[in-house]
Amino acid sequence: MFRPLFATALAAGLLLATAGAQAQNKLKVGFMLPYTGTYAALGTAIENGFRLYVQEGGGKIGGREIEYFKVDDESDPSKATDNVNRLIKRDQVDVIVGTVHSGVAMAMAKAARESNTLLIVPNAGADAVTGAMCAPNIFRTSFSNWQPAYAMGQVAAERKHKTAVTITWKYAAGEESVNGFREAFEKGGGKVLKDLTVPFPNVEFQALLTEIAVIKPDIVYSFFAGGGAVKFVKDYAAAGLNKSIPLYGAGFLTDGTLDAQGDAAQGMLTTLHYADSLNTPRDNAFRLSYAKTFKLQPDVYAVQGYDAAQLLGAGLNAVKGDFTKRNDMIAAMEKTKVDSPRGPFTLGKSHNPVQDIYLRKVEGKENKMIGIAVKGLADPGRGCRM
Ligand code: PHB
Repeated sequence: MFRPLFATALAAGLLLATAGAQAQNKLKVGFMLPYTGTYAALGTAIENGFRLYVQEGGGKIGGREIEYFKVDDESDPSKATDNVNRLIKRDQVDVIVGTVHSGVAMAMAKAARESNTLLIVPNAGADAVTGAMCAPNIFRTSFSNWQPAYAMGQVAAERKHKTAVTITWKYAAGEESVNGFREAFEKGGGKVLKDLTVPFPNVEFQALLTEIAVIKPDIVYSFFAGGGAVKFVKDYAAAGLNKSIPLYGAGFLTDGTLDAQGDAAQGMLTTLHYADSLNTPRDNAFRLSYAKTFKLQPDVYAVQGYDAAQLLGAGLNAVKGDFTKRNDMIAAMEKTKVDSPRGPFTLGKSHNPVQDIYLRKVEGKENKMIGIAVKGLADPGRGCRM
């Protein structure tokens, strides 16, 4: 009699101990972001945003403490598969948060699909990530490259501009951004006369600026970001082109860059899912908390990182931190309305935000919201079957 009872008690004790240990386990979060190169500041802002939400929750998400792992992806697609496998195979993280660069993100999405690792993309807009490569375990808290670009094409056509030249880096983000702009601009009666590109992350713009001056379009549409955006906007103004040919862009052209761009950016119009001076209680609280913690003003990248943590929190809260309940967690993430500083957003069927795209104007050190370019814009999710 004694032995089985003892054995049962022992087994029960062991079970309890295991359950306890599981509750104590830290959730492993792997940041794969650029910490060097033209997008370095963007990677830091994303990580800051994510950490801020965790800090506001007393160091936990969904009741779980977090252990962080980090890889600098250098915005280099040729190293992306090795880099993401450091997190998946070596560190065995539960969730990957990354990245900024679309080419790197596509390699990450492929690895995440193959290993069924949860991936939350806090920036890279590659249309395919929530298009042909969409998967139940892949989410995005930022945008698709199509979204802000399409909105700008619509604005430019509404403003009765007839001709445009586009200029960008020759890689997925630039090409998709230009395509989104062209789609709406030409639908509204405009015509893109020429697409100009430089290789990523090249910033030698002089020959192309000369070409723009010769073509004399009504406007220029541009996608650049980070350090490259600073240089491009300054070169455009230094060439005197901003006096005669307005420079429009997806909002990355002037986000997190205004201190460095100074006078060169004044008056520029861009479209994006975030703006400074939204002046909502939610955004004001976020901005204050971010500025106090990091002694920096937040930008769109910080918001996207913060919202990646919020989305993960929505999933983990629904399963009381039990990461093994993957299906329930994913279902909760799909259904949630994220209380973002940008304004609340939901996710579309392909796991991309359905969100308002603001029209912004640069005034001093702010991308001031001057209107909503497109309300509740959903990416078409082309090629996504899920
Ligand atoms: C991208 O590669 O998708 C990308 C990079 C930087 C941005 C926006 C998009 O600011």
